[in-house]
Amino acid sequence: MTFKILVTSQKGGVGKSTLSANLVAYFSRQMQLKTTLIDWDPHGSSSNWLLHAPNVGVVVQHLSLPVDQGGNRPIFEARLQLRHATKTSDIVLCDLTWSDSLAGELMFEFDMVLVPTSVSEIELGATSGFLSRNRWVFDSAAARRPMLLVCPTRVLPEQLASNIFTKQRFPVSFMLAPPVQESQTARDLYERGFLMDSEDVCGFSFLQFAQAVCAAREMRMAQNNQAAKATTLSNNVGATSSDRFANATTPRSSVLDGVVSSAQYSILGRHRQRKLAEAEQASNTTAAASTDTSRSMSSLGIPEFIRRMSRGTSPAKN
Ligand SMILES: Nc1ncnc2c1ncn2[C@@H]1O[C@H](COP(=O)(O)OP(=O)(O)OP(=O)(O)O)[C@@H](O)[C@H]1O
Ligand SMILES: [Mg+2]
Repeated sequence: MTFKILVTSQKGGVGKSTLSANLVAYFSRQMQLKTTLIDWDPHGSSSNWLLHAPNVGVVVQHLSLPVDQGGNRPIFEARLQLRHATKTSDIVLCDLTWSDSLAGELMFEFDMVLVPTSVSEIELGATSGFLSRNRWVFDSAAARRPMLLVCPTRVLPEQLASNIFTKQRFPVSFMLAPPVQESQTARDLYERGFLMDSEDVCGFSFLQFAQAVCAAREMRMAQNNQAAKATTLSNNVGATSSDRFANATTPRSSVLDGVVSSAQYSILGRHRQRKLAEAEQASNTTAAASTDTSRSMSSLGIPEFIRRMSRGTSPAKN
């Protein structure tokens, strides 16, 4: 099943295109996954990056989305483009600057919405506003709601020790990715190469971030597989039910609704619990090895990322 990622934010210059170009390169070359980049940015920064840098096998599409038309048009257009791309890809990643004229429903087309944000107060405020306007998407009870992954970008060494994400009151459940650090290398590599090959802090932090995205993808795929099994189960139950209720007036779907959802939720609950136990074990190991502040951004490795995700709660409780 294709994993669809939307990289978006309303703020310009936060690193959407840098993360998009480098993440698709990582998926394609390091993970050996068939990967498509759809660049919806008129400037085409991420697509240009891929087209001019050494070929890593990513299918690059610079397409337009009628963002300003509002309503359902952008969603229909996005759906068409995604359907086409998913036929041949394991991963489809879309780079988009969000606009308030877009309907939040667009995000339901994706498995993950990845929101890069720098950690200055002004940018965190903008990110918080964007997330609160769309919290109904991420807090939706729909099983197919996208995962929300917030990624601190362009983070300076002195900002690593801050615990801004625990103080900041983001009004929605989200996962926090390991931060990608600020470095001249990120600018120098534009159209020339990729962060995964850089041996400085920025390259290293990018790899941590990319691994976290892969971990989230695995969890989502496990959820999707369980949901598919639950659907098969419901279809099978449906076959016998339809015989049994052949003459009943109650619609079949309403008879089966409870069966589908309860099977699905108990399976997801078990999966989360297992991940939580693994993450707790891993973070205990990390904590033992580290003597600095346990909740600063510098300590946000993959275990922390998964723990937050497993609890499904906002970390903004401090
Ligand atoms: N980790 C980083 N370290 C240093 N500079 C960075 C980093 N990430 C991005 N930049 C720089 O920040 C600027 C904006 O990055 P980028 O174009 O990726 O952001 P964007 O969110 O896509 O912007 P836009 O909204 O204009 O499309 C670029 O000059 C880029 O080189
Ligand atoms: Mg961009």
